[in-house]
Amino acid sequence: MTEKTAQLIDQLKLQPHPEGGYFRETYRSNGTIHIESLSKLYDGKRNYSTCIYFLLTSDKFSAFHKIHQDEIWHFYQGSPIHLHMIQPDGTYDKIIIGSNIDKGEVPQNVVSGGTWFASEVIAEDGYALAGCTVAPGFDFNDFELAERKSLIDLFPEYRESITQLTRG
Ligand code: GUN
Repeated sequence: MTEKTAQLIDQLKLQPHPEGGYFRETYRSNGTIHIESLSKLYDGKRNYSTCIYFLLTSDKFSAFHKIHQDEIWHFYQGSPIHLHMIQPDGTYDKIIIGSNIDKGEVPQNVVSGGTWFASEVIAEDGYALAGCTVAPGFDFNDFELAERKSLIDLFPEYRESITQLTRG
């Protein structure tokens, strides 16, 4: 880990995330949505919205996972990020989250709920600080980390990416 990364983890009080990278929740709305107003995917009430800081480093990719909610990414600083997305219909998109708009990077992106996604810092020795906002609010009951073999069975054409961006 570089000095800069260690400093950011300390300053922003980040914790390791189960998918890889580091995070801290910065916002959770007081208001909640009753289970009857949510889709059948949800197993209980949820806050209106939540937001996290999310830090990725070159040696800590975020492994393929999915959540029920749409997730909005915001780029803050550091190196650009490859965001890989596999939609339920098998469409694969790979975009670059970053601030160099002239180079085709986007500072903001929405990952639709139900999409498998993974992310990695493109540079070999860098970090990226982003924010991720979801509505309804985040709950680990809505989160599924991909199992490598199961995801390859679902999308065999993406075996190489899935192998690189899962941990087992
Ligand atoms: N809170 C804890 N983990 C996450 C996550 O992966 N995404 C979002 N948006 N919020 C979280």
